Amino acid sequence: MALYLAKLPILLAILLMISPGPLPAKSSSTFSRSISPLSLGLKSEKLSHLHFYFHDIVSGPNPTAVRVAEANMTNQSVTGFGATVMIDDPLTEGPEQKSKPVGRAQGIYAMASQTEAALLMIMNFAFTEGKYNGSTLSILGRNSVFSQVRELPVLGGSGQFRFARGYAQARTHTYDVKTGDACVEYNVYVRHY
Ligand SMILES: *[C@@H]1O[C@H](CO)[C@@H](O)[C@H](O)[C@H]1NC(C)=O
Ligand SMILES: *[C@@H]1O[C@H](CO)[C@@H](O)[C@H](O)[C@H]1NC(C)=O
Ligand SMILES: *[C@@H]1O[C@H](CO)[C@@H](O)[C@H](O)[C@H]1NC(C)=O
Repeated sequence: MALYLAKLPILLAILLMISPGPLPAKSSSTFSRSISPLSLGLKSEKLSHLHFYFHDIVSGPNPTAVRVAEANMTNQSVTGFGATVMIDDPLTEGPEQKSKPVGRAQGIYAMASQTEAALLMIMNFAFTEGKYNGSTLSILGRNSVFSQVRELPVLGGSGQFRFARGYAQARTHTYDVKTGDACVEYNVYVRHY
């Protein structure tokens, strides 16, 4: 017993030397850690369908789609290869431009094919309506504009659309050959929390 008590301070000293240090593999790093989905309020995943119309207005005094760059080629390609357009296109509930606004499509599209009318589209749908006001969806895809249905991936989102993934289907509703203005119907299917 006396021997044991005599060794106690040494044992304590050893314990104290070991224990105050960082515990391995547990919150020792502030850079990354595992957390539970519930700690971010993420419960069950939903599937939402959004339906709206996209107005690409290139003509008139207030265009919402503006060409910002083009290729300098000795002979112009028939597909306008290289032409790049910046857009802030209105999104509305119905096909008329005066229909209720639900958001804007903000981004860039560019003629990405030398053999057909196919766009590379990089844009955010910035919604302003109802519970989606302030939330965005990010789209990056190929749009072969003369196909009946074009499918573009939804890569992500913000706000109500955090962790979003899904796809958008675009169908031309009207296209004015004279002005170049187009109205495109969008159906977006998106998984999110
Ligand atoms: C377009 O390219 C040609 C030939 O390469 C060049 O001479 C001309 O300056 C270029 N034009 C512009 C606007 O860059
Ligand atoms: C473009 O120019 C090149 C060389 O000048 C020529 O060989 C080619 O056929 C032209 N392409 C078109 C589509 O006119
Ligand atoms: C959307 O949110 C903005 C900023 O909070 C607000 O000013 C606007 O009135 C809202 N729009 C709708 C349609 O609720």
